[in-house]
Amino acid sequence: MAVEHGHLARAAAAILCLLIFHVAPSDSHSQARGSGGSGTTTCISRERDALMSFKSGFFDPVGLLSSWQGQECCEWKGVRCSNRTGHVVNLNLRGNYIYDVHDFLSLSKGGMSSSLAALQHLRYLDLSGNYFNGTSIPVFLGSLQNLRYLNLSFSSFSGRIPSQLGNLSKLQYLDVNQNYYYDSYNLSVVDLAWLEGLPLLNNLDMSGVDLSPVLDWIYMVNMLSSLRVLRLAHCGLTKTVPATLKSNLTHLELLDLSSNLFNTSLEHNWFWDLTGLKELHLSYCKWHGPIPEELGNMTSLEVIDLSENGLVGLIPSNLENLCNLQVLLFEQSNISASIGEFMDRLPRCSWSTIQVLLMSQTNVTGKLPLGVGALGNLTVLDLSENKLDDVLVKEHFSGLLRLEHLDLSYNSLKMSIDPNWVPPFRLKMVNLHSCPVGPHFPEWLRWQTNIDTLILANTSLVDVLPDWFWVTFSQASLLDASDNMLRGSLPKNLQHMSVDSIYLGSNMLTGQVPQFPINISWLDLSSNSFSGSLPSKLKAPLLAMLLLDNNQITGTIPSSMCQLTGLMRLDLSANNLTGHVLQCLKQSDNNFLVSDTNSADQFGSSMHTLSLRNNDLSGEFPKFIQSAPGLNFLDLSYNRFSGALPNWLPEKLPQLQILRARSNMFSGPIPKNFSCLGELYYLDMASNNISGSIPWSLSNLKAMRDTSKYVAHLAYEDSMAVITKGQTRDYTFKVYSLVVNFDLSCNSLTGQIPEEISLLIGLTGLDLSSNQLTSKIPNKIGDLKQLQSLDLSNNKFSGEIPSSLSALTYLSYLNLSYNNLSGPIPSGPQLQTLDNQIDIYIGNPDLCGYPLPKNCSASTNDAEQSVDHENGNHVVPLHLGMGMGFVVGLWTVFCTMILRTVWAAAYFQIIDNLFDKVYLWVPTACARLMNKTDDDAT
Ligand SMILES: *[C@@H]1O[C@H](CO)[C@@H](O)[C@H](O)[C@H]1NC(C)=O
Ligand SMILES: *[C@@H]1O[C@H](CO)[C@@H](O)[C@H](O)[C@H]1NC(C)=O
Ligand SMILES: *[C@@H]1O[C@H](CO)[C@@H](O)[C@H](O)[C@H]1NC(C)=O
Ligand SMILES: *[C@@H]1O[C@H](CO)[C@@H](O)[C@H](O)[C@H]1NC(C)=O
Ligand SMILES: *[C@@H]1O[C@H](CO)[C@@H](O)[C@H](O)[C@H]1NC(C)=O
Ligand SMILES: *[C@@H]1O[C@H](CO)[C@@H](O)[C@H](O)[C@H]1NC(C)=O
Repeated sequence: MAVEHGHLARAAAAILCLLIFHVAPSDSHSQARGSGGSGTTTCISRERDALMSFKSGFFDPVGLLSSWQGQECCEWKGVRCSNRTGHVVNLNLRGNYIYDVHDFLSLSKGGMSSSLAALQHLRYLDLSGNYFNGTSIPVFLGSLQNLRYLNLSFSSFSGRIPSQLGNLSKLQYLDVNQNYYYDSYNLSVVDLAWLEGLPLLNNLDMSGVDLSPVLDWIYMVNMLSSLRVLRLAHCGLTKTVPATLKSNLTHLELLDLSSNLFNTSLEHNWFWDLTGLKELHLSYCKWHGPIPEELGNMTSLEVIDLSENGLVGLIPSNLENLCNLQVLLFEQSNISASIGEFMDRLPRCSWSTIQVLLMSQTNVTGKLPLGVGALGNLTVLDLSENKLDDVLVKEHFSGLLRLEHLDLSYNSLKMSIDPNWVPPFRLKMVNLHSCPVGPHFPEWLRWQTNIDTLILANTSLVDVLPDWFWVTFSQASLLDASDNMLRGSLPKNLQHMSVDSIYLGSNMLTGQVPQFPINISWLDLSSNSFSGSLPSKLKAPLLAMLLLDNNQITGTIPSSMCQLTGLMRLDLSANNLTGHVLQCLKQSDNNFLVSDTNSADQFGSSMHTLSLRNNDLSGEFPKFIQSAPGLNFLDLSYNRFSGALPNWLPEKLPQLQILRARSNMFSGPIPKNFSCLGELYYLDMASNNISGSIPWSLSNLKAMRDTSKYVAHLAYEDSMAVITKGQTRDYTFKVYSLVVNFDLSCNSLTGQIPEEISLLIGLTGLDLSSNQLTSKIPNKIGDLKQLQSLDLSNNKFSGEIPSSLSALTYLSYLNLSYNNLSGPIPSGPQLQTLDNQIDIYIGNPDLCGYPLPKNCSASTNDAEQSVDHENGNHVVPLHLGMGMGFVVGLWTVFCTMILRTVWAAAYFQIIDNLFDKVYLWVPTACARLMNKTDDDAT
């Protein structure tokens, strides 16, 4: 999912870049890599040796230190010597760990040499962004008495920060910021008294360092009266500080305390005295209450970040002197007032300086005042997920000359904009998801040729997708207009487009599927009315997801599909494709066991999901999937595949979790080695012509023996129809919840059910109906405690119904009808709550007891005749609730991690789609499923 929403990540990154770009941070991380020394200085040999020894402690895969050779160490990259003395004074070895997987040094086995201690004249040391592999910060750094600048950020150090750093009495800049999102290593501090030794410090960044044991942190920090920048984000701080604390930090310009759970009122805090602050970052702290009046005295503020706290109420009314505001971040505050009132309180004098206004999820209501258009410097406006209810006209936007990023998604904003309007801005990103912009396609977008990301999903567009769409947005990277009623066809050829993600699913588009854009990675044209055959030359080397399901595409799958070797997900289901399925294997692979089929450039080598469901495909079980070792979802159902089930599945598809081959013409026995499909938890082979007995070895299916599997499971955007007897649930989801299912119904299986089936204790559904199975129902069937649905009807089972059935407390569907069962029906509270009691047992003349009219002690046989023959449609409770809970949980974590709104939008989109796309319907008898129906295409 995260991958598929890469565009949103990009959008989020775009916002962050805008922020960074526009806010011009007051600490300077931007000192360039050392530019080498002058030509005249001569390296001091003792120092050169120290550098060489230091170098030898690292792996240097891309040769960052390749210039470190020869005598003149002052010329080496990153090294600078003093003109006067020749001593090494600067060492700038900043790496790119995090951003780039190669461009950094990593500590080798020997560890970091303490030889650097010889560089006693060092003033500047930057080792940030390299990989120190969880070692601790070396103590000897504390002996570099002349250091002014020390940067150890994002370097995978761990352990305690040595208090010896307190000996660096000339230090002005100290950065030990840890990358707490990606890095598993942790720096910590138990005592900050050593800060007292750093009286000249003006920049301190300890973000991500665990300071939770340091209860007096504020008193220690308060000694640093020269501080201009203090960053203590995500430090585990909880202790609130008495408002009486007299702050010493009179020079402070930037304070970042975000992501610490203070869980207290935002009013009366020590930092409100810091009236010289330019940036105040207080997001994710669980602050309570209103935004305090004290803010009104902070007249230097440029950046206010109070987002994600759930603060209640409007901004205070006394902000009229805050004339330097540039960035206002209030996402997830419960402002619950009209946007008009909010605007009234925004200081007039800052209307021309505000550049970024993020107010996603703030419960703002009402109509957008035209005054919004007076924010002449606004570049980012995000009002998504609110209760704005307005008809937007061009005047709302006429003053927004610099707008680049506009997010109005998930409101009730309609747009009624004159089609001839030419906007004054050039947007890069626009998100109008779920805002009713339609019915006409917004004509004003025609002029937005700078757009990188366009989201018009679910915007009530009932129109022809205009031709200019493909011209105006030819440079965009993401285009999403899904869930509308767009008509018309696409240009025959989109190869010239730069786009990497197109989402046009769930529209009414017709015509042929076009030639793909050359850079496309994600392409969703599902649920439209595309027809004709697929382009014969598919060329899209980066394609990772191709969704063409639920269209009317005909013809065969072109062999050029084999060149789409990066495909992770392919869904061609519910079309009219015919012929044999691809044969992408290389010629030499006549014998499938001898092959180089796992090589990375093979079709399928990245694939995890493949659905060919509901077409007219024929031939034997597709062999090309032998080169898809990562496949975990395979759906071949409702086709005309025939022949034997292949015995290479376990070897070639060790990850397979879901296998659906229902309604085909597969024949022969179930290969015994299917039991080696260790991840398989969903097996549906119903309605084929499978014969022989059920191998007892299937009881070894590991994933089905695992009750903990019964936890919702996140997968990619998988479309899966879960069929349990009497009902089909179409989980056309990004997510499917986990149903552990074993369905071999409507085949020609003979023999008895192996006793060992009772070992598959994870099963929630077991369907063996409509076969020729004989003998007794295994006594231990009651061990399958998770069973919700059990169907053994239309077989030749005899003997008594095992009384253990009454132990199945989750059972909500049971069918034992039309067998030769005899004796008393077991009693049990759960059995008696089942619907259509009589249908469960009908067709077994020798059964007796409740609910049948036949009394077990009596021997009348007529009772059965009176039973009404009704085919009960039974609704098994959906697992949707559980799946959703999981998704919500997961995304909550994810969103918290990523911090920004755009992600939240993605999350809501998923939830919405869940609701939109769930539908149920009830096929009737098994026999109907034997014939190909268009059920799945509904
Ligand atoms: C040292 O030399 C370089 C190059 O000649 C020069 O740019 C720089 O200003 C000098 N620094 C001092 C402190 O003299
Ligand atoms: C990091 O440390 C671990 C454990 O000490 C070691 O196995 C691994 O090889 C090290 N990695 C590097 C890049 O040095
Ligand atoms: C304020 O800072 C000075 C050093 O600059 C220090 O001596 C003094 O103790 C600090 N005051 C408080 C209350 O921490
Ligand atoms: C703002 O500062 C003034 C002068 O320092 C002070 O008297 C006043 O109480 C402050 N207002 C608030 C709301 O803190
Ligand atoms: C918005 O209002 C609803 C209902 O009053 C509330 O449940 C929700 O928490 C509010 N949103 C925020 C971000 O506080
Ligand atoms: C926008 O901000 C810049 C400074 O960032 C300022 O020079 C310019 O006047 C502002 N533009 C408007 C329209 O206020």
